[in-house]
Amino acid sequence: MENEVISAKNIRKEYVIKKHFLTGRVKEKVAAVKNASFSLEAGKTLGIVGESGSGKSTTGEIAGGLQKATYGNVYYCGKNTAEMSSDEYREYRRNVQFIFQDPKGSMDPNYSIRDILAMPIETLKIAKDKKEVDLLVDDILQKVGLDLKLKNKYPSEISGGQCQRAAIARALVVNPRVVVCDEPVSALDVSIQAQILNLLKKLQAELNIAYIFISHDIGVVNYMSDSIMVMQSGSVVEQGDAKQVLVHPQEEYTKRLIESAFIN
Ligand SMILES: Nc1ncnc2c1ncn2[C@@H]1O[C@H](COP(=O)(O)OP(=O)(O)OP(=O)(O)O)[C@@H](O)[C@H]1O
Ligand SMILES: [Mg+2]
Repeated sequence: MENEVISAKNIRKEYVIKKHFLTGRVKEKVAAVKNASFSLEAGKTLGIVGESGSGKSTTGEIAGGLQKATYGNVYYCGKNTAEMSSDEYREYRRNVQFIFQDPKGSMDPNYSIRDILAMPIETLKIAKDKKEVDLLVDDILQKVGLDLKLKNKYPSEISGGQCQRAAIARALVVNPRVVVCDEPVSALDVSIQAQILNLLKKLQAELNIAYIFISHDIGVVNYMSDSIMVMQSGSVVEQGDAKQVLVHPQEEYTKRLIESAFIN
């Protein structure tokens, strides 16, 4: 695919859950992801939906390099991440950022929002001096709709919605091409959820970012996604164009997920 930014081919992830107490030999393994493949183009959203424990987070973490697949490969801009030079690998990791469910938990409580946002800029040497760091911090705060006065606050001093905006700012401040959003609105009030989803859509249109958007909520995935992958017990049960999957689901499991969304 011409515009492809990230793809995975036949990824499988096994965890060892039991080892022999003397020999250390593996007695039991669990497969969190079994043979998943997907492809994502620039500026598009791949939704991953499925019940708890179906392998959604593991798939997202493997896509962004937080975990290694036991088998299979991840490709960034057509290049196998397992065969990259260290410079290429660093570039891939910078270009695939993450947003998690619990923004407060993912931020160091001892740093101000300004310092949290300045850190990736300084680590990656994106700015030439402190003044430029501050300009970049202000710019990203404005993009995510946060008042510049919040810069000097600590994560515990701002609301959950504001904190998730700051987490989005932290992900975007290094100009990634892909963001893995793992249940980004599940911990927020319903009224705030829509604001964050709309912000993610606005930023995607402005910055041409691709999202891997993970949620157990098929309604949210429907709102966000161009294509959808439905997972159950580590397996991909159905995937394709979002409308196709949601309007004409082929699998019983997908049909049940859609029905349960209407009941809730
Ligand atoms: N570090 C680990 N060691 C052993 N098993 C693990 C580990 N991480 C995940 N698993 C197992 O892998 C499976 C998939 O987990 P994963 O977190 O990817 O699911 P999920 O779809 O994101 O679930 P949730 O909706 O609850 O976040 C689960 O059965 C989980 O218990
Ligand atoms: Mg998860």
